[in-house]
Amino acid sequence: MVSIPTLTDSAFLQACRGERPAHTPVWFMRQAGRSLPEYLAIREGTTMLDSCFRTDMVVEITMQPVRRYGVDAAIFFSDIVVPLKAIGVDLDIVPGTGPVVAEPIRSQAQLEQFRDIEPDDIAPITDAVTALVGELGSTPLIGFAGAPFTLASYLVEGGPSRDHRLTKQLMYSDPELWHALLARMAAIASQFLRAQVEAGASAIQLFDSWAGALSLADYETYVKPHSATVLASVADLDVPRIHFGVGTGELLHSMGDAGADVVGVDWRVPLDEAVRRIGPDKAVQGNLDPTVVFAPTEFMQARAAEVIEAGRAAKGHVFNLGHGVLPATDPDALARLVDFVHGYETA
Ligand code: CP3
Repeated sequence: MVSIPTLTDSAFLQACRGERPAHTPVWFMRQAGRSLPEYLAIREGTTMLDSCFRTDMVVEITMQPVRRYGVDAAIFFSDIVVPLKAIGVDLDIVPGTGPVVAEPIRSQAQLEQFRDIEPDDIAPITDAVTALVGELGSTPLIGFAGAPFTLASYLVEGGPSRDHRLTKQLMYSDPELWHALLARMAAIASQFLRAQVEAGASAIQLFDSWAGALSLADYETYVKPHSATVLASVADLDVPRIHFGVGTGELLHSMGDAGADVVGVDWRVPLDEAVRRIGPDKAVQGNLDPTVVFAPTEFMQARAAEVIEAGRAAKGHVFNLGHGVLPATDPDALARLVDFVHGYETA
């Protein structure tokens, strides 16, 4: 008898739950957009933010890497600043730079603009989730949001930052405003995640991409309580919660403890060491260096094998890169990587 795969026993959801599926599931952060020629073609003439509010484009761009690579999960095509745009915050995504905010946050009075998300604000987005869930069948859709610290960093700096100087200055000099800002970001991230799951997404990822800029002590004082609020707020929805940041080797335990089921790990810490830091009760996601896909195929495969072997130390392992797909990545190299991971012995 041929068994028909279902969503719940998809390899990705099994690994998130800490089970050992028949093959190691794999998807890539930033698999939608960036490197795919079919993405660049469809985006021609439409800005990044406009495309995020066009249901047809969101559906098509989310599907592109699933069709091309046969990955085990789809990541919803959107951006961490989309919920802020949806409530009317004056910001843009500048090609090659990232999110840029018209009026950086300096005062309590500016927090008023961060109102709650109403369903109408994000109707094109929830419509896209619903359409995708139908089209994806047994392939899970991952919804996502930016974590409070990473969102606040863009809002306070006014754009991308290497050292997060203004963000930390606000954090250290006006903790009251800082916590009020992060509490608003937590509420918005929660609402955005809930809306995606209620429309049918079967997992969520909370991106705290820039949390690695903080010491453990500062993370725990100024950031963790707000990330914990977000993760707790979706606990009742019963979907796996993935929590990821870059350069977070020293924060891994704390990020897991914030309420993650799966902790995303960048390439700097081997997964078996990451498991020692995180503890035995959570799954891990990662962590091939995104530049390794530019190396010869045999080298890439050897490194991918090391990642899979190290991942055996975990309760569950979702294969991914240690950060997003780089824009110059050759799609054929990613296709070869997916085939290699799928063909690798799991026993
Ligand atoms: O497959 C996917 O992951 C696509 C969906 C997605 C995008 N952004 C689309 C996007 C996701 C999950 C994100 C998350 C995101 N956005 C994060 C967290 C993930 C990470 O990489 O750490 C962050 C920090 C942002 C903020 C942001 N938006 C940056 C740093 C950039 C890159 C700027 C650039 O052009 O290099 C963006 C723009 C952006 N978001 C693009 C895409 C496809 C590129 C815009 C374009 O194609 O014109």
